[in-house]
Amino acid sequence: MTHKSTQKIRQILWIALLFSVFLGLILSNTSLLSGFENREQLVLTGHIFQLLAALALYRSELAINQHALTITQANANVDLHATADELSLQKKRLTGIIETAIDGIVTVDKMQKIVVINPAAATMFGYTVEALQHESLDLVIPSRHRKNHGEHVNNFGATGATKRRMGSSFEDFYVTGLRADGTEFPIEASISSSLENGERFYTVIFRDITERKIAKDKLAQYHTQLSQLSTALQSIREEERKHIARELHDDLGQLLAALRMDLSLLQRDSLLTEKTQKTVRSMDQLILTSITTLRRIASDLRPRALDEGGLFYALKTLQKDFSNRHQIDCELIADEEQLTLDDAHSTAIFRVIQESLTNVARHAVASEVQIEFQRDASSISFSIRDNGRGIDEEDMKKTRSFGLVGMRERIKAMHGEFTVTSTLGEGTHLEIKLPLSTSTDAQ
Ligand SMILES: Nc1ncnc2c1ncn2[C@@H]1O[C@H](COP(=O)(O)OP(=O)(O)O)[C@@H](O)[C@H]1O
Ligand SMILES: [Mg+2]
Repeated sequence: MTHKSTQKIRQILWIALLFSVFLGLILSNTSLLSGFENREQLVLTGHIFQLLAALALYRSELAINQHALTITQANANVDLHATADELSLQKKRLTGIIETAIDGIVTVDKMQKIVVINPAAATMFGYTVEALQHESLDLVIPSRHRKNHGEHVNNFGATGATKRRMGSSFEDFYVTGLRADGTEFPIEASISSSLENGERFYTVIFRDITERKIAKDKLAQYHTQLSQLSTALQSIREEERKHIARELHDDLGQLLAALRMDLSLLQRDSLLTEKTQKTVRSMDQLILTSITTLRRIASDLRPRALDEGGLFYALKTLQKDFSNRHQIDCELIADEEQLTLDDAHSTAIFRVIQESLTNVARHAVASEVQIEFQRDASSISFSIRDNGRGIDEEDMKKTRSFGLVGMRERIKAMHGEFTVTSTLGEGTHLEIKLPLSTSTDAQ
């Protein structure tokens, strides 16, 4: 019954009471006015009516109060049912999610006993849900990892963290799972813990990342191969340059020198007419120019100084040529002793600086460039700093530009570090650090 109908009953009862009181009063008072003899009897009757009315009122109030209690109980029952329905719906929903999740979900208690496991998890491990339910989690962890894993989970519970990825760093971000057939597979997992009635439970959500790991390994392998290919190509190119430069310088250069000697002998011949003498002089001039050009080409291909441990002189020449050719002030802060290095280091440093200066000339619009060296027992560091326009982000993404990429690869092949810092409008700063002890075949 509703609150409204209770109110109505109350109203009717109150009206009944008023009527009884009214009747009582009339009966007791009319006797006064009319002067009846049995007045006392009438007054008594009036009082009795009043008493009856009060009694009726008391009883009805009692009834109403009992009734209200029943209603409250009934309402509470209805609420309870609704909550239970809602709860079972939520449970159904949650079970549905867990059952159909692609990721594996496992909940274990503090003894590592499996409390909940979804079909995806069971399938990943090659079991049925029933086979793993109530089993120890150790069943799906390779024996050599069990101790570590247990400690990891306990440690996780002890730190009080509610959620975090398993595995200590990005590289070993995964844990290893053990299938029913004994094969192992990499797992990426996240763990959370909860406290239920004072007991701790851990839920691990995970996925099999075999495919991803294979792809990642393949990519890393491909990248290593590419780096090795680039190093090999650079090395071949350097060898070819060295070879051609030597051929030009030694063979062709000597031939031209011999030709020049012959010409000078011819010039001394008194039988030659003045006209022939003039032609011979002109030929000599041409041969001289050819020798100079040949030396320049040979040196551009590969400075001789590099093969004689003279990186300092090779860089000095590069610096002077650069300043003269591009009208950019170029400073070299280094000394000969610092730059006495083996062939591999000399060549790599020379090529990196050569490419950097080419970039300054082609792109920087700079007025100054500074090359500075520092060396200690185990490494050599150098930087190339210009005051040009700087490299913007889009420049870095140019797919057909291999200058910076080539430098980076060359340095990486020698286990060095290569950093480019650039501020737009303020210039570019390349910093390179090369270890000296590591032997390498890179050139
Ligand atoms: N010193 C520099 N100052 C300004 N921009 C530069 C500098 N060095 C490189 N860049 C920019 O970075 C790009 C990539 O350089 P790089 O890899 O050497 O390729 P490339 O010189 O063949 O274009 C260049 O095209 C240029 O836009
Ligand atoms: Mg370049």
